[in-house]
Amino acid sequence: MAYNPTAIKLPDASAFERKITGRQTNLYVLQNNAGMQVAITNFGGYLVGALVPDKKGKLTSVIIGFDNIEGLLKQESYYGATIGRYGNRIADGKFTLEGKEYRLFVNNGPNSLHGGKYNFSYRVWEANQIDAKTVTLEYLSEDMEEGYPGNLKVKITYQLTDDNAITITYEATTDKTTIVNLTNHAYFNLNGEGNEDILNHVMQIAADNYTPVNNTMIPTGKIEPVKGTPFDFTNPERIGKRIKADNEQLKFGNGYDHNFVLNKRGAHSPAATVTGDKSGIKLEVYTDQPGMQFYTGNFMPGTNILRGGVKDKMCTAFAMETQHFPDSPNQPHFPSTVLKPGEIYKTQTTYKFSV
Ligand code: GLA
Repeated sequence: MAYNPTAIKLPDASAFERKITGRQTNLYVLQNNAGMQVAITNFGGYLVGALVPDKKGKLTSVIIGFDNIEGLLKQESYYGATIGRYGNRIADGKFTLEGKEYRLFVNNGPNSLHGGKYNFSYRVWEANQIDAKTVTLEYLSEDMEEGYPGNLKVKITYQLTDDNAITITYEATTDKTTIVNLTNHAYFNLNGEGNEDILNHVMQIAADNYTPVNNTMIPTGKIEPVKGTPFDFTNPERIGKRIKADNEQLKFGNGYDHNFVLNKRGAHSPAATVTGDKSGIKLEVYTDQPGMQFYTGNFMPGTNILRGGVKDKMCTAFAMETQHFPDSPNQPHFPSTVLKPGEIYKTQTTYKFSV
């Protein structure tokens, strides 16, 4: 199919104006001087969509999603959701902190995924649009909500810059020792939503190692080199080139759904760089986090109709969830996700688009 930048506008704000658990939800639109637009809703802190210019200057919708909030309410693939209190899996839905065992809701095989049943993606956040390019969302996750200890005050700042970057800053404090691992679950298709799958996108990940998993997608605890495996994206490679390789890890994940151990962290060296083969749009991800879950939408059900009228089939889009490693609370040699009273959790990830 020829490259066809989809008809391009963000959803109507009115399609996100609802009362959920008695609280008002809205759509917040950020716009920069280069014409890029981003939409965020305070329901679940979802990144609803983003329009960026392609090489001909045509706006292209690079984050897949739904036209209205009802789409978000009936899906379970976290399209652009804020993930918390703990991104990715915790084995058997339990962990021990300061000698006390905590039990979480088990929602993924034997494990707890993405914060449990009514995780942060179901909550209505307090929004404050600061200016045309900035919106903040705040949420108080109460002590023992979803089984996690401590009143956790969370603030997320979404900022669009004039060089077409979305910067997400997460801040949190607690009044009891707890664990926290926040991320965003945007799914990208840099050819524009509605333009088939992402298998020909070219991906580079600055990770010499990854954390292999068992058959329930919990890290085995080993940190293994990617060299010589389909997980080696240290040089640019088509996402689809090795996705069907005879490899146990790819079988467990039904494709890529793995945590990459980032070599460098910070604002100057991208953790990942991806280019849409048809649009030429490049996405660079910068983060201070130690890991990135690269997920090729392997469990997308194919039953939801996305903007652009397409079904959410496997590999329609991919996610790059910057975060601490899955199951860190049970794997003491992984970087710690513990947050204590008096400490400030602060982390930042930037998604920068260019042509
Ligand atoms: C993460 C997980 C996947 C899947 C998606 C959401 O990427 O690792 O297995 O749960 O979130 O569907």
